[in-house]
Amino acid sequence: VQARSKFKKLMRDNGIARTAVVGGGVIGASWAALFLANGLSVIVNDPDATTATRVMATIEGARPVLSGLGYDTDRMTDGLSFETDLAAAVHSADLVQECGPERLDFKKQIWRAIEAAAPKHALLLSSSAGIPASAQSRDMIEPSRLILGHPFNPPYLMPLVEVVPSSVSNTGTVSRVLAFYRGLGKVAVELKREEPGFVADRLQAALFRESVSLVRDGVVSMRDLDDIVTSSIGIRWAANGPFLSFHLGRETDGLRHFIAHLSKSMETLWESFGDVSFDKSTNTLLIEQARHFYRDHAVSGPTELRDAREVAVLNAIASVNQTSDSQPEHRRDI
Ligand SMILES: NC(=O)c1ccc[n+]([C@@H]2O[C@H](COP(=O)([O-])OP(=O)(O)OC[C@H]3O[C@@H](n4cnc5c(N)ncnc54)[C@H](O)[C@@H]3O)[C@@H](O)[C@H]2O)c1
Repeated sequence: VQARSKFKKLMRDNGIARTAVVGGGVIGASWAALFLANGLSVIVNDPDATTATRVMATIEGARPVLSGLGYDTDRMTDGLSFETDLAAAVHSADLVQECGPERLDFKKQIWRAIEAAAPKHALLLSSSAGIPASAQSRDMIEPSRLILGHPFNPPYLMPLVEVVPSSVSNTGTVSRVLAFYRGLGKVAVELKREEPGFVADRLQAALFRESVSLVRDGVVSMRDLDDIVTSSIGIRWAANGPFLSFHLGRETDGLRHFIAHLSKSMETLWESFGDVSFDKSTNTLLIEQARHFYRDHAVSGPTELRDAREVAVLNAIASVNQTSDSQPEHRRDI
């Protein structure tokens, strides 16, 4: 809880107190929970009549997670309100986190409207998983204001947010955005180019491609593949990431030794990767195995179990980092 109080001070230093979340679906509700836990006020804008019920349900689901991460969640919904009129919702916002449908026409139109109604100082951020700021901001008067703050789902739990400016984004604004997210305890990483899928989703897709290929070819079952990942590279990469892991693989010479001795065999493996697609027979096989191995999880609250396991990982790593000076501050506090 002490670590979390520090974040509240950072929030004050960043001058951000009032936020507007545009789109109260899966991602919007999750951002709302995190903002509220950090003492920010949140106005959720969404035309759907069921928004309040859905957002409240997500916040209730996030409460044990946020509490497990050290937040005081007792009165976290005090700062929450709902407003179906977009202009009224963003009128006094210090920050707008857009989480609407993933359609270019929607994003272009909503940013034009948000820009016209929000204060000049407000940070304008899109959660989009795939439509870059350069495309979304085409109809804005000042496209330099828009930056992507792409979370890894769920934002109330996963530390990563990819900050993706466009080529016209203002560098001072990018710094403010990074400071804001880091103030929330996020690991905010700025990408230097608007790469399709950004970085985290590209990496996930690369590993998933080979996972599908191995299960499709019958080398391993889905269940065994999951066990292989969680019992080896999942632990390694949660702790240190792929490059640092290889660098730490030897007492001396680190990555240089890896490149000298293991790079050829890795290239041979790369060449052996098969083509894979979600064709009919692959899909049938994957769905059958998911039903066979994981039916019980689907019945007994998969989100709670998933979140509880991930919180345990985050807290275990944070407890080690608290006694270590080996990483920058924002990477140490999760
Ligand atoms: N789901 C994920 O895993 C994930 C991860 C990272 C980023 N994202 C991105 O976050 C954004 C939202 O995704 P989601 O999964 O929450 O979608 P979602 O469909 O759950 O939520 C979208 C919400 O937008 C609302 N909406 C529709 N029209 C609106 C309008 N005119 N004004 C305000 N709200 C409106 C809908 O009612 C809905 O509640 C997308 O851009 C997506 O790419 C999603």
